[in-house]
Amino acid sequence: MTTGKRKILVTSALPYANGPIHLGHLVEYIQTDIWARFQRLRGNETYYVCADDSHGTPIMLKAREENIPPEELIERVGREHRRDFSDFHICFDNYHSTHTEENRYFSEYIFQQLHEGGHIAKRTIIQAFDPLEQMFLPDRFIRGSCPRCGAADQHGDNCEACGATYTPTDLADPVSVISGSTPIEKESEHFFVKLGDFDDMLRQWTSSGGLQSEVKNKLAEWFEAGLQDWDISRDSPYFGFRIPGYEDKYFYVWLDAPIGYIASFRNFCDREGVNFNQYWNSDSTTELYHFVGKDILYFHALFWPAMLYGAGFRRPTAVFVHGFLTVNGQKMSKSRGTYIKARTYLNHLDPDYLRYYFAAKLNARVEDIDLNFDDFTARVNSDLVGKVVNIASRCAGFINKRFDGQLAATLPDPALFEHFVAGSTAIAQALENREFGRAMRQIMAFADQANQYLNEQQPWIVAKESGQDAKLQQICTQGLNLFRILMIWLSPVVPELAARSAAFLSCPLAASGAWQTLQQPLLDQPINEFKRLLDRIEPKDVEAMLEESASQTDSSANTITGQHLADEPLASEISIDDFSKIDLRVATITDAATVDGADRLLRLSLDLGGETRTVFAGIKSVYDPARLIGRHVITVANLAPRKMRFGVSEGMILAASGTDDAGGIFLLSPDPGVEPGMRVR
Ligand code: 2FM
Ligand code: ZN
Repeated sequence: MTTGKRKILVTSALPYANGPIHLGHLVEYIQTDIWARFQRLRGNETYYVCADDSHGTPIMLKAREENIPPEELIERVGREHRRDFSDFHICFDNYHSTHTEENRYFSEYIFQQLHEGGHIAKRTIIQAFDPLEQMFLPDRFIRGSCPRCGAADQHGDNCEACGATYTPTDLADPVSVISGSTPIEKESEHFFVKLGDFDDMLRQWTSSGGLQSEVKNKLAEWFEAGLQDWDISRDSPYFGFRIPGYEDKYFYVWLDAPIGYIASFRNFCDREGVNFNQYWNSDSTTELYHFVGKDILYFHALFWPAMLYGAGFRRPTAVFVHGFLTVNGQKMSKSRGTYIKARTYLNHLDPDYLRYYFAAKLNARVEDIDLNFDDFTARVNSDLVGKVVNIASRCAGFINKRFDGQLAATLPDPALFEHFVAGSTAIAQALENREFGRAMRQIMAFADQANQYLNEQQPWIVAKESGQDAKLQQICTQGLNLFRILMIWLSPVVPELAARSAAFLSCPLAASGAWQTLQQPLLDQPINEFKRLLDRIEPKDVEAMLEESASQTDSSANTITGQHLADEPLASEISIDDFSKIDLRVATITDAATVDGADRLLRLSLDLGGETRTVFAGIKSVYDPARLIGRHVITVANLAPRKMRFGVSEGMILAASGTDDAGGIFLLSPDPGVEPGMRVR
């Protein structure tokens, strides 16, 4: 373990400023925040910066869709992101945006340095162009039939049916997702970073020690395949920074996004008087870590160190890569209601629950982690409430009521206390190495020992014996001191629980350097009144959150919608047999009503030709119930009934919508003349 005060700069990936923070994002922010808080707790000078990733075509189009300038969109989304992070207690030292003067300055500077170093190439390429929108189309905005297997409606760069990779110009019948027109091919001059120039440097950096073995393996594959030039320019119209000297060329969003780390830190240093150069100069001895998801490793482990090196900055000490979040064992899905926004979670549950649960599941490998809600409820209730908080509540009442809040002057079992103190080394090691799950297991094993101590000492029996006051006070003082150590260890994970515990114990638990204080017991001093520190998770709250989530997403459990510009396909490919399992029927809405306590749901009665069904649909924001009665809709008749808080939903009706409600929800209706119960095929 390094001694002395380390200087550490930490970042998480910058979220795009066109959508809300969801639980998948939060794995990374929680992981980084726990690690940064742990470093501060150890007394290391630690800065954690982030920003919104505010440029690029999707942001430009989203703003256009909302009929507002992109500046207004990124401002609004930026505000929402800050609020979500703050409510999850993600403690950034600075949260900035990539659409700022600092970022423009560093983007231009780095480009200029790369140019002067001879690392920029310029050449003309042919790209797909939307003649109607008069814009070049990024691959994800083109769909068409796969040139290899002929599967329809495939992405511009790969086929989900046969796995072929190609360029959009290879697609048969390509279509612009933006205008629906057929793209044409058009030439344009682009700038490229010659990544191959940095091959030796990157290989050396890769083997310098800080990277996970999975990451090194992946990099070895990329080196083997050969490093390709990287296109860092985009044509107008684009939302980003203009390349100096060019009227209609912009830096590609992925050039200026990581530079946002530098820009955010610069903004922080200017405000707080921190020495910027000490952290970014090429000879820096400070530590720089980027926490990122496995999908953006290429950018952070190849492009980014190359850009930094080429422009005369230091390179990252390490890039820490994590896997994705699955919910109840499956990919997060709008259709299953498991695409849960940070805000939806916060409407129902305490953020410390999720922080603890993620910590309990995280390790230092690039593995996906699963959020299983039954396990979540059981784990948090058993560990945090049943084990940790229980220790305090078993002791606090006696100290408060019988000893006027005063702790005893000595510990009755100093050896047990020392045993806890000695445990700190291994726990610190695990936290330092991002083996959070291991650290949580170790901490809970200590919590078990503290409870075991109280079970053996039985303060509630001692309290009834006469002349045993001193003993009672000592036992409870011992219990509270063990609780205090547990809470210092846990404070990076559950900061609000730690803050309430600190107020109760009248002692800082999470202050900078507090780890070094844990060997000194609290003795002969007053504590404060004990208030409930943490409530159990009630399954009904989890259920209500899932319901809110299901009802707000377009393709909710009760309404299937097609997604325009969807970033998440519902499923890769289904066979005709899969499709024919879906019993689609015409139904007539015979009754429609709002649902008490549900913001977005309507309760619909459907006539399926003699059979009546009740279906809950998340369409209240756009449909007046009275005007739905008598309308024909398409329903999935053989969907398994789903128990919701407000009743059982016995099917689903079909609707179209954009990727969020801002784009509207449109019920699908058959032509006149249909009869309820008719099969749709
Ligand atoms: O993948 C993403 O969500 C990007 N917005 C991450 C950018 S991280 C950094 F490079 F800025
Ligand atoms: Zn194919």
